[in-house]
Amino acid sequence: MKPEPAGHTHKSKLEQLLERQRRASEGGGAARTARQHEAGKWTARERIEFFLDEGTFEEFDQLVVHRSRDFGLDRQLFPGDGVVTGHGLVDGRRVFVFAQDFTVFGGSLSETHAEKICKVLDTAMRVGAPVVGLNDSGGARIQEGVVSLGGYADIFLRNTLASGVVPQISCIMGPCAGGAVYSPAITDFNVMVKHTSYMFITGPEVIRTVTHEDVSKEELGGADTHNSVSGVAHFAADSDEQALLLVRELLSFIPSNNLEDAPRLETNDPPERRVESLNTLVPEASNQPYDMRDALHAVVDEGYFFEVQEHYAPNIVVGFARLGGRSVGLVANQPAYLAGVLDIDASVKGARFVRFCDCFNIPLVVFEDVPGFLPGVRQEHAGIIRHGAKLLYAFAEATVPKVTVITRKAYGGAYCVMASKHIRTDVNFAWPTAEIAVMGAEGAVGILYRREIAEAADQETARRTRVAEFEEKFANPYVAAERGFIDEIIEPALTRRKLIGALSMLENKRDTNPPKKHGNIPL
Ligand code: HXC
Repeated sequence: MKPEPAGHTHKSKLEQLLERQRRASEGGGAARTARQHEAGKWTARERIEFFLDEGTFEEFDQLVVHRSRDFGLDRQLFPGDGVVTGHGLVDGRRVFVFAQDFTVFGGSLSETHAEKICKVLDTAMRVGAPVVGLNDSGGARIQEGVVSLGGYADIFLRNTLASGVVPQISCIMGPCAGGAVYSPAITDFNVMVKHTSYMFITGPEVIRTVTHEDVSKEELGGADTHNSVSGVAHFAADSDEQALLLVRELLSFIPSNNLEDAPRLETNDPPERRVESLNTLVPEASNQPYDMRDALHAVVDEGYFFEVQEHYAPNIVVGFARLGGRSVGLVANQPAYLAGVLDIDASVKGARFVRFCDCFNIPLVVFEDVPGFLPGVRQEHAGIIRHGAKLLYAFAEATVPKVTVITRKAYGGAYCVMASKHIRTDVNFAWPTAEIAVMGAEGAVGILYRREIAEAADQETARRTRVAEFEEKFANPYVAAERGFIDEIIEPALTRRKLIGALSMLENKRDTNPPKKHGNIPL
């Protein structure tokens, strides 16, 4: 038999494939990879390998190359085109992932790069699995012009359509500038790596020219800024490793899509555990602060609370935990910061978290101690009416199980907003220390009895008598309980048992909103 020519054997075809795969795995080459490492960053492939369960990564489109031939692009073809995409497992559950490769054209987004990300989003939507994007990119591939901008818009559309269907998490692990920020902005959570990542619409140079402000990249859009000032980011990690571990953990609290429930974990923490510390948590004096996180940690399984947006608007605390093994979203006023008042930032932070939980069937547990909305010209002029309404709207439209515990103050409009019975909260508990009133006693007496007190011979005694009278009548949970606005006044030590009982009762809750295209939340 005549031997096959060398170029046509199966062996050489296999070698060709292996050679192409090898080139794809090298990204932009050894020198650029070394620069990436020197900058304290992992490569796209290193990030994916670390992020997914070992050996589970299945890659898509490894051999895709860009189509442009202008500006010398015809001489620089990198298989994969600056983004590694595919899927794998996280704790045994399917997750889709894309990681931009800064070593190839600075991770910039070309037409084909965008198509790869779109394929991941489309497939994740079809199979109902979360999408995790690892962003590290110089933005639109400058040589491609509008084709690249179109690619971004294609991604934004898919991010929008996937919103509320599958969870989307963005990890910012390098530059993310210009319009590129809008994909992470639409996704559910943004994790930023300190000192190596930044996000902004326009960088320091443009700002210097346009507004004459002098600001560093870090100050303008680093992890600390977006976690504590702008509220754009939800987590700040010290390193690539910590960021990726954080995303893995975040995924453990949420379901794979809007039709599933979050994974339920076994716990050794007894559901009926009494929490004695709660009986003395609320101070005697109504204006004394205490840390609401102490209550959250004490109540949840194994005392473990995974806080979201810890550094932004700390007057409201949000995050995930488990109660009896079930994942819950906790929303709590924080009397230790600004007395737990609701301002614009706290309202927006709370609203977005409530809506995420509602999208993904995660029950809401609310701990309430709120003196009201923050008064002041700045808040009014910045739109506290519109922004405060977001939190109200979010709680009211939420159809997941909702359980509230009033620990102390539930004053004024904030009483209604913080998952009151009136906006379809299923179970409302109050501690005996609860004060449910239109406003605090001092304020109320100042309005109702101003003239009487001014005319009294002993003004201080007159004032104190009226305050005591008001407190006796309204600063307690009994009027609300007599009306059925509170289902049960509980000994604080029983809070864990009561919450788990309520969630168990609500396990099969089904509630709907009237048919509509979508609501019109006050944005
Ligand atoms: C093509 C790019 C690129 C881009 C970087 N590179 N950004 N190639 N398009 N947008 C290439 C560089 O030429 C270089 O190639 C390599 O990536 C690494 O870039 P460096 O500049 O050497 O890296 P560094 O010093 O770390 O600076 C990173 C950077 C800078 C800050 C991101 O590269 C930069 O400013 N790039 C441009 C950013 C930008 O203006 N993008 C457009 C934004 S507008 P070699 O071959 O030397 O390795 C936008 C609109 C989106 O994105 C709109 C959506 C609607």
